[in-house]
Amino acid sequence: MSNIALFSEWLNLLLRWAHIIIGIGWIGASFYFVWLDIAFKPRDKMNPGVYGTVWMVHGGGFYHVEKYTVAPAQLPPDLHWFKWEAYLTWVTGFGLLVLQYYINAKSYLIDPSVLAIEPWQAIVASLSSLLFGWLIYDGLCRSPIGKNPVLLAAILFAIILAATAMYSQIFSGRGALIHVGALIGTWMAANVFMVIIPRQDKAAKSLMRGEEADPSHGIIAKQRSMHNNYLTLPVLLMMVASHYPGLVSHQWKWIIVGLIVISGAMVRHFINLHDAGRHFKGIAWTLGVAAAAFVSAAVVSGVRPERSGDLSAVNDAEVMTIVNRNCVMCHSAAPSHEAFDEPPAGIKLEDVDELRRYAEQVRAQAVIGQTMPLGNETAMTLEERDKLGIWLDQQ
Ligand code: HEC
Repeated sequence: MSNIALFSEWLNLLLRWAHIIIGIGWIGASFYFVWLDIAFKPRDKMNPGVYGTVWMVHGGGFYHVEKYTVAPAQLPPDLHWFKWEAYLTWVTGFGLLVLQYYINAKSYLIDPSVLAIEPWQAIVASLSSLLFGWLIYDGLCRSPIGKNPVLLAAILFAIILAATAMYSQIFSGRGALIHVGALIGTWMAANVFMVIIPRQDKAAKSLMRGEEADPSHGIIAKQRSMHNNYLTLPVLLMMVASHYPGLVSHQWKWIIVGLIVISGAMVRHFINLHDAGRHFKGIAWTLGVAAAAFVSAAVVSGVRPERSGDLSAVNDAEVMTIVNRNCVMCHSAAPSHEAFDEPPAGIKLEDVDELRRYAEQVRAQAVIGQTMPLGNETAMTLEERDKLGIWLDQQ
């Protein structure tokens, strides 16, 4: 492996590690505050201006937290703001997008059988979709539609489906799914950066000056915070979904994404209602809807187009012609492809025995999914994929 490849692999690993850790911090804090917010109870002895308190035990300590109806008479200067979790999750995520998908655009972002574009065009498409996606989302929330939460949610849902369909026409399957995640993740982080924190900051400043805070700050911050709450679980699934070849290559990704959004939002709804003290029996339907959406996504992903071309048996020589043309320049002991000094993922496909050994992975990557050949560099045809599939079935 060249030094540059080694460096970029470790930088990728470092960013991914940081992204996951910081993301867990963000999600953990937000789950905790949703729970906390509902847990306050008025008690006999409370400080002036306090609406309720919560008692907790954790890690060997006892904690007593107060919530003010509006705010305390005096705010201390060392008020803790939860914001870096959100900002850094986005920064590390964007870094990963650059490292994995922009720098290796030909391998991961572009699939010439979807749209033959140059890396710079794909990168411009990616950046502008994230920017305009935010402007559209933010504009809708600020518009009169934003006053109607149900209508707004329905429109945002339709936008997510349309974005998935659009990305599927521009990028590789993997590139498309990661962009749905990146788009929603950008909404969430920008909600914190552009709306929630600035509004809270304004409110805190007026309170510190001893003035009353404008109630609209709270209402607007709450709306965005609610969106983040319901988008958290779907976005997590979108981020890992690009590792599943069957999902990545599916022709109806927008339907699968829609079902995933419903499923994740319903699980979150269940947790919200459960935190609010609702009895399991009354809220179990939310889990039913989540499960139905999840199972439907699995069923839809199993629906594949009919095999094309000649469906007769495929012999060993024929399959090796296909594999030699599409795989062996990378997957051999000494790859002829300039980017590789050793077989990627340790997988060699130089004869039928090796092809049999990796049968299930090959099926997943090159027949059901279309993640291989990497970046579809050889422009592998559907007929070749079908023949490879038929040969694998015969084994
Ligand atoms: C341009 C180089 C290249 C070509 C051509 C190529 N691959 Fe790969 N393959 C890779 C790389 C790089 C990986 C490492 C994993 C990744 O990037 O996701 C990989 C990984 C794999 C894996 C393991 C994936 C996993 O995580 O389970 C399989 C299976 C595979 N390739 C099969 C094939 C088949 C079958 C073909 C031909 C139809 C093919 N590859 C063509 C570069 C290539």
